[in-house]
Amino acid sequence: MYQIIDGKKTAAKIRQEIAGAVAQLHESGKRIPHLAAILVGNNGSSETYVANKIKDCAEVGIRSSLIRFNDNISESELIRAIEKLNNDSDVDGFIVQLPLPNHISENKVIESIDPSKDADGFHPVNLGKMIIGLPCFLPATPYGIVELIKRYKIPTAGRHCVVIGRSNIVGRPVSVLMSQKGIDATVTVVHSKTRNIENIILQADIIIAAIGVASFVKADMVKEGAVVIDVGTTRVPSGETKSGWKLAGDVDFEHVAPKCSYITPVPGGVGPMTRVSLLRNTLLAANQRKI
Ligand code: GUN
Repeated sequence: MYQIIDGKKTAAKIRQEIAGAVAQLHESGKRIPHLAAILVGNNGSSETYVANKIKDCAEVGIRSSLIRFNDNISESELIRAIEKLNNDSDVDGFIVQLPLPNHISENKVIESIDPSKDADGFHPVNLGKMIIGLPCFLPATPYGIVELIKRYKIPTAGRHCVVIGRSNIVGRPVSVLMSQKGIDATVTVVHSKTRNIENIILQADIIIAAIGVASFVKADMVKEGAVVIDVGTTRVPSGETKSGWKLAGDVDFEHVAPKCSYITPVPGGVGPMTRVSLLRNTLLAANQRKI
């Protein structure tokens, strides 16, 4: 019988821990951490993600600000807004919600963020530190995945972990973390150009599916007893919900779950852990301030 990895419950526990830490700051008369979020345009998913981030901050007592711009903002105007946050001593950390409109270079925008305020862990300085194992802000989803694996005491040392997808915000960084000392998995990254992808996935003790293709991982690609972490959040049409859509993972849960030792559901698996990672990074940013 497989065990569900309950990201919702685990994230709620971590939020309690963070709320406790923030309350302690309060009691000792220290400043309360402050996260700012920049949202450009009104992409439906981004609106939901940012609203949830603001809500999470309120729940644990972290201050937050939302800064919105129309999607016709120029790249230089956006970078000026970022520089203002870099220099604002009342802001501990901030994020720029992605994706950005096509006329704006995401790389340029990310590189303009002060690495010491980069609550998303997307700046090349933080990603570089992560690669060589230095303390840094970790990207939220990989951080959340590793925390779930640790809290469920899933054995990783010497295990074969296959990461499906090589995005800058999930696949690539999680592949680095899974092979780091202390986690010690043997990692394979597969992607859209990989040959015999099914056979490689079939060899995995741990599958991390982050390609954004609904139900890509089928039962015949999964070894008996595998651990499956599903990062997918594709919106698919649904007659069962008020919104007319529901979230679909990258894994065909119904048929894959019976073969697993552990599996994350969608929703309620990785998503809540991603949200909680941002709170952890914000607290870390506040604790690391020199002034
Ligand atoms: N878009 C999708 N995921 C993320 C995230 O974790 N942070 C930001 N800023 N944008 C995203």
